[in-house]
Amino acid sequence: MVGVVEAAGLAIVGGCTTQAVMSLYGTFQRRVRESNVAAREAQLFQQRAQLLLQSDRVDRERSELSWNGNRKFYIDRKVEEAKDICSFYLRPHDHKPLAPFLPGQYLTFQLKIPDQAKPLVRCYSLSDSPANRDHYRVTIKRLDPPPKEPEAPPGRSSNFFHKGLVEGDILDVRAPSGHFYLDQATEKPVVLIGGGVGLTPVWSMLNAICDSGSRRETWFFYGIMNRNDHAMYDRMAEVRRTYDNVRIVVCYSRPTESCVKGRDFDQEGYVSVALFKKLLPSNNYEFYICGPPPMMQAVTSDLKEWGVPDSDVKFEAFGPATIKRKSPPKPAQDVATAAAAGDGIEVVFERSGKTLHWKPDYGSLLEFAEANDISIDSGCRAGNCGTCVTAIKEGEVSYLSEPGAQPDEGSCLTCIAVPSGRLILDS
Ligand SMILES: Cc1cc2nc3c(=O)[nH]c(=O)nc-3n(C[C@H](O)[C@H](O)[C@H](O)COP(=O)(O)OP(=O)(O)OC[C@H]3O[C@@H](n4cnc5c(N)ncnc54)[C@H](O)[C@@H]3O)c2cc1C
Ligand code: FES
Repeated sequence: MVGVVEAAGLAIVGGCTTQAVMSLYGTFQRRVRESNVAAREAQLFQQRAQLLLQSDRVDRERSELSWNGNRKFYIDRKVEEAKDICSFYLRPHDHKPLAPFLPGQYLTFQLKIPDQAKPLVRCYSLSDSPANRDHYRVTIKRLDPPPKEPEAPPGRSSNFFHKGLVEGDILDVRAPSGHFYLDQATEKPVVLIGGGVGLTPVWSMLNAICDSGSRRETWFFYGIMNRNDHAMYDRMAEVRRTYDNVRIVVCYSRPTESCVKGRDFDQEGYVSVALFKKLLPSNNYEFYICGPPPMMQAVTSDLKEWGVPDSDVKFEAFGPATIKRKSPPKPAQDVATAAAAGDGIEVVFERSGKTLHWKPDYGSLLEFAEANDISIDSGCRAGNCGTCVTAIKEGEVSYLSEPGAQPDEGSCLTCIAVPSGRLILDS
């Protein structure tokens, strides 16, 4: 022990008692602990500074390299990932550098589908790590008609991607956008949750964490039926082997006989807050969720009951369904008061010849129109892509969230707009 104490630079004079040596050794241990803490703090400080510099650089590059309107991309590779799920690797036709994106963002496609009068607008999340700067990748599930309506037409865009497009084909693509992205300026432990093809944005987030060298504690929950639906299978195994700060939990709701627990999947059943309670040491995480509406509805409301603040729960829905939080974004107070009085606010959909009364429960003007069989084109349903833009013939609107795309004067983005008073829309 004397050797150890001397090594710490604490001189021992002859004749000291065991007690004195123990006390010196205690001091030595405390100093080692203190210096370890200081070293860890310095490391965290350095990591944070690096992350901030990196995010500054990415912001700068994003604004320099982004583009307005459509840009031509060709399909470089088309890769089957699972049953009815294909990845498309896209490279710019002009061979100029790609704008960086934030993990979780999406691309908006304007598709010229044969026999369709108008181009079809659809959004697809970027599914690869933003560290890959030579391509964008989207991963698309081909949609069949709903089981209850087998006579309905299959999904137009997803079937066009799967069956109508081949490597080398050219597509019109708008720049990456979207507000559902991983906050990389923090090292707060994070839980990423993907259900079905809703894996795409959170898979990009997971890969961003891995590629950045971050030591952030990361849990990744993936819910699917069985091995047939399991996308990114090999890469998932690689991430498990390589990153000890990442824990992947794959849940199969209906494993077949050939599915092997411990190899293909970890848990039988659905991704649920009951499972988080079993596996996570606490609820002190940031949660990012994307998946089918029933899963998102259940998980978001159970997280709230578990005491996770709304500010730590971020989600994105792919379809028209929106998550009904207990505290949804509200229209301004005066709008709500005006709507609550009487029958609600009068909205005239002029071209459809319908005069209706809107109340806050109906949600956005787009949802209100759809609920009344009035068709308005939509893409992102989050105020980013500009597809749902509609001319205002009279009146004003207010927005439930900040529009990403700026509508022209005299028009509005119906997916995030509510009426401020009597309104006449050109739809
Ligand atoms: C931000 C965002 C990101 C997204 N990211 C992804 C992603 O990464 N991967 C992905 O696969 N998807 C993603 N989506 C969903 C995607 O944009 C499309 O909505 C999806 O591919 C379906 O489009 P579609 O044209 O194929 O189907 P649509 O033609 O819109 O049809 C949708 C469904 O309705 C059925 N249907 C059509 N007509 C009728 C009818 N008359 N009666 C009854 N049923 C009918 C179809 O059979 C189909 O099942 C994302 C969406 C958003 C908003
Ligand atoms: S649907 Fe994209 S902005 Fe409204």
